[in-house]
Amino acid sequence: MKPPVRVINWASLIGALAAGLAGCSAKYPMDTLSNGSDFARRIHSIYVAVNLIDFIIMLIVLGVMFAAIFWFSTRVGEPGEPSTVTSDIRLEVAWTAIPALILVFITVPTIRTIWATQPDHWSPDTLTIKVIAHQWWWEFQYPQYGIDTADEVHLQAGRMVHFSMQSADIIHSFWIPTLGGKRDVVPGQINSITYTPDQLGEFYGQCVEFCGDSHANMRLRGFVQTKDDFDKWVKQQQSPPVTPTEGSAAAGAQIFANAPCAICHTVKGISGFSKQYAGNFKGPDLTHFGSRTTLAGSILDNTPENLAKWIQDPDKVKPGANMPTLGLQGKDLNDLVAYLESLK
Ligand code: CUA
Repeated sequence: MKPPVRVINWASLIGALAAGLAGCSAKYPMDTLSNGSDFARRIHSIYVAVNLIDFIIMLIVLGVMFAAIFWFSTRVGEPGEPSTVTSDIRLEVAWTAIPALILVFITVPTIRTIWATQPDHWSPDTLTIKVIAHQWWWEFQYPQYGIDTADEVHLQAGRMVHFSMQSADIIHSFWIPTLGGKRDVVPGQINSITYTPDQLGEFYGQCVEFCGDSHANMRLRGFVQTKDDFDKWVKQQQSPPVTPTEGSAAAGAQIFANAPCAICHTVKGISGFSKQYAGNFKGPDLTHFGSRTTLAGSILDNTPENLAKWIQDPDKVKPGANMPTLGLQGKDLNDLVAYLESLK
């Protein structure tokens, strides 16, 4: 027997409320309510101010509405004629002018924030990161340091960062909620976002413009580090790749060089992306792949098991992925995994 409609509605309402509240709790990493940069804090203060204004307006409107209901309604036994008033110019003016004034009131801090969060000049010390969005992963180049990495972007706490962003294919959108506002990444155009992260930690991000089959699998991580840790990371990324000389990893290096991997993926000094063979399907730079915590668009933790799963059937992990299935099995697969994981 079907439950009554009213019961279903209450159940779904409570479910939606629970999910909404759970989404707000600090346990979930895609969090816009905790602020990890000047940019995020400015947006948050507007958010709080506008909500406060809205709440006060709601109280006034509800108060007036209930007062009107109780004051002007006909009492039992009271003879009453329905009102014949069809318009009131004072009311018309009031309910046009007041919302317009409220909008103006909200517009001023909003525009001030837009200007403040989109500086057109920055100090020479600013960390510059070139972001290139691909279906479905993020490329991060650090021109000041000669680093090219993927899906995990490292930042220095207290140092302004300027992301200069473009797309290799279609429109994507860059967003690390805790660190600041989102920005569309558009082919043929450079968009930018500039902020100073000040909260240490690992922050989750996500592409927020629908970009095909694996849009939801186009994630990223932002690591905000102390100066010492950031410098250490830079040094490690600048170092030449490990060249294993024996064991499984050495055999894997041979497989990497002979399989089509090397057409799309760069391991500095060993292989490089070849536009002639790969077209636009560039794959992430793997020079220090083993040092990353995630793989495949940051959807899997970087473990040998997950890497094997990914290489065996990329399309199953990330539907529509441009990486082909190579048909590697058994020892060959294990050797290749050992090599890639050794690239610390
Ligand atoms: Cu890239 Cu959605």
